[in-house]
Amino acid sequence: MKRILVTGALGQIGSELVLKLRGIYGQNNVIASSKGNDKDGSKDVIDSGPFEIVDVLDSKQMADVVSKYSVDTIIHLAAILSAIGEGNPHLLWDVNMNGLYNVLEIARERKCAVFTPSSIAAFGPSTPKDLTPQETIQRPTTIYGVSKVAGELLCDYYYQRFGVDTRGLRFPGLISYKALPGGGTTDYAVHIYYDALKSKKFICNIKKGTKMDMMYMPDALEAIINLMETEPSRLIHRNAFNITAMSFDPEEIYKEIKKHIPEFKIVYDVDLVKQKIAESWPNSLDDKDARREWGWNPKYDLSAMTIDMLEKLKEKLNIK
Ligand code: SER
Repeated sequence: MKRILVTGALGQIGSELVLKLRGIYGQNNVIASSKGNDKDGSKDVIDSGPFEIVDVLDSKQMADVVSKYSVDTIIHLAAILSAIGEGNPHLLWDVNMNGLYNVLEIARERKCAVFTPSSIAAFGPSTPKDLTPQETIQRPTTIYGVSKVAGELLCDYYYQRFGVDTRGLRFPGLISYKALPGGGTTDYAVHIYYDALKSKKFICNIKKGTKMDMMYMPDALEAIINLMETEPSRLIHRNAFNITAMSFDPEEIYKEIKKHIPEFKIVYDVDLVKQKIAESWPNSLDDKDARREWGWNPKYDLSAMTIDMLEKLKEKLNIK
């Protein structure tokens, strides 16, 4: 990776990844792009290096940016998440599939490497729930999950058929303090920290006992960079590595936060759409192939993440 284009650069992952990549590869070698430039907290991304308006559905606009900056790697993060997708499946299909197709076509023409995230959503109710294997049944029941399985296969196809260096990870719920996630099912695990600090009360839209895989953002950023920097001959599962850092249900994260904020309370008001999605996903993934093939080794567990999240959020929200 020498000249990197990041799509969806103002989103939850992009807004942190761009700054980290600029620190490693040089400010001017990381081109941030987004459909608009008016998201909260996007100033440092826009001001710290090249920024371009790119709608991933406009392949000409994207191709022009790739050639203008001689991009050799596209990190494609622009996508619609699970809960929003269930509200508008047509839009999700358009953005997630046609956006990825445009990225892959440009990568094929200009010989770029491509990173695309997949997700725990690429699994469904018939998948083994505990220690979900790397290779297993994938019959998701959400449009988001369908787009993720199709995306994994499309990336495999572009690698096998055209030699495009495609790589990807099945991310669990990502927890971070900079930009909020945009309409996923795992978002509760971010909002719980904000509400614990702001109002000491959290209304949880996911049922007690519903376990999902999760990860703190610093580990997710390391994972993207490590995977992209791995010698290609080591990669057997190039487009869809299971990775996880922890698995918990709402009570477990609540109790962990309560250790630091004893007066914190949780009440449940379950969102049926999100609950159904959450129940269709694994309880915990088996990520040994990622560990073996490119050295995946997360640093944060629930307790370490909670200490860091509370400290960073207090600072951000200006809470004493
Ligand atoms: N965090 C995502 C979601 O909840 C899963 O990939 O939609």
